Amino acid sequence: MTDKDVLLGYATQDKSGRSGVYPVHLNLKRANRHGLIAGATGTGKTVTLQALAESFSQQGVPVFLADVKGDISGISQPGKSHPKVNERLQALGQPLDQWRGCPTVFWDLYGKQGHPIRATISDMGPVLLSRLMGLNETQEGVLNIAFAVADDNGLLLLDLKDLRAMLQHVASTAAELGSLYGNVSKSSVGAIQRRLLMLERSGAKKFFGEPMLELDDLIQVDDSGFGFVNVLVANKLVQEPDVYSTLLLWLMSELFENLPEIGDPEKPKLVVFFDEAHLMFKNTPQALIDKIEQVVRLIRSKGVGVYFITQSPGDIPDSVLAQLANRVQHALRAFTPKEQKVVRSAAQTFRSDKSFSVQDAISEMGVGEALISTLMANGAPSMVKRSLVKPPVSRIGAAKRAEVREILLQSPFAQKYDTAIDRESAFEKLAQRAATAAKAAAAEKPPRKRAHAAPKPRGRPRQSIAETFVKSVVRSLGGRTGRALVRGILGSLFKGR
Ligand SMILES: Nc1ncnc2c1ncn2[C@@H]1O[C@H](COP(=O)(O)OP(=O)(O)OP(=O)(O)O)[C@@H](O)[C@H]1O
Ligand SMILES: [Mg+2]
Repeated sequence: MTDKDVLLGYATQDKSGRSGVYPVHLNLKRANRHGLIAGATGTGKTVTLQALAESFSQQGVPVFLADVKGDISGISQPGKSHPKVNERLQALGQPLDQWRGCPTVFWDLYGKQGHPIRATISDMGPVLLSRLMGLNETQEGVLNIAFAVADDNGLLLLDLKDLRAMLQHVASTAAELGSLYGNVSKSSVGAIQRRLLMLERSGAKKFFGEPMLELDDLIQVDDSGFGFVNVLVANKLVQEPDVYSTLLLWLMSELFENLPEIGDPEKPKLVVFFDEAHLMFKNTPQALIDKIEQVVRLIRSKGVGVYFITQSPGDIPDSVLAQLANRVQHALRAFTPKEQKVVRSAAQTFRSDKSFSVQDAISEMGVGEALISTLMANGAPSMVKRSLVKPPVSRIGAAKRAEVREILLQSPFAQKYDTAIDRESAFEKLAQRAATAAKAAAAEKPPRKRAHAAPKPRGRPRQSIAETFVKSVVRSLGGRTGRALVRGILGSLFKGR
């Protein structure tokens, strides 16, 4: 072990059953091989998450986490002496006077307890939007066409009203689009529009728009070399599980598509913790689960570690579970036959020696106690150890409102994100286009112009409306030429870093 490892806690027995204090570590170099924190309610998952996030921060690794119950904002404040906490710190030979909070940035979809976190519709793309709206395959096909027409015409889809305008446009030009893009049935468009209406009444309305989150803002280190902890305030958000989980999937997709390939770094560039992870896989079609699995597998070479937190490992599809090498398993209940089955299969995933029964341990362990197995430097999983988790030195529980307010006031991101902007996009362009077309028709009844970017006839003096759109989107995307926008595995835009 080196001092570049993260201290997770300690075992009280070695493998031959001798008692003592045996520190348990997470290898920082293997921290991008992802992880899992699982356990029944009240067994210590959130405190483990906090301790782990705090340790990454101390090692200069920025962190993103979702605060689902409002009980982790205390990570921004120094902790204080408490008999149980002291006991564990003492056992580990840790000082008892070094309570400290982490540099923290708060994000909040609703913009109340943090900076608003936003994405554009264009950027999110049709795959995740379809999931968010619960579209069936045919409807997803139509949404794909709407995106293709928008992408090809350089129509910016920033917010939900742009998407609505785009769908109307697609419906009204369905006949012309058919030969180029495929069949667009009016009933599918109608169904999507009804879903859109529901979306407009949900938190998603706030999520879509600008200024969009810049990933670099999540990957910051403070002056003393601590990684920033980005806390997504999610206690209200999680009540809209589809919005919550789509936001997390979008974030993962963005990181994957836009961070450069760096192989296995000395330490991760960023670690993200997905609490209530089962929501990411609920109501998710197998095709999308396959894509998520692919992104989870590939994102580690971009230096991103992904840690899922959930009650039971059974909540996570096996293909994804197999990618999670660093595991902290808190106690699980084993009363019903179904629960016993989960315990058995959780036990089977650990490499263990003969000194104790993993299966018994899972149902016996106390609060803040866990079975820990991490990926060793040589790439093999360590023998599982029954351990007491190291408590955080930041405050356990929530920060006070005034403390959060103070952090928001000091934050460099307030100016950048707190006010929404609404620049010209598909909604305005299509409205303008309709107005122009109506005027022209009234003036001289010219032949009807095609809606999409048709090949430009030679010698035509003026730019078509579509060409003007393309120029404006190219400007807004940083001067790339008019080639088609590139979308990644989960459909977000690739910005060609
Ligand atoms: N490592 C630890 N050291 C000291 N105390 C702990 C530790 N872990 C948990 N506790 C105590 O147990 C309480 C419950 O833990 P925690 O909130 O982490 O459970 P949880 O598994 O996240 O529960 P839920 O599923 O309901 O969110 C904490 O408030 C804290 O008092
Ligand atoms: Mg919790």
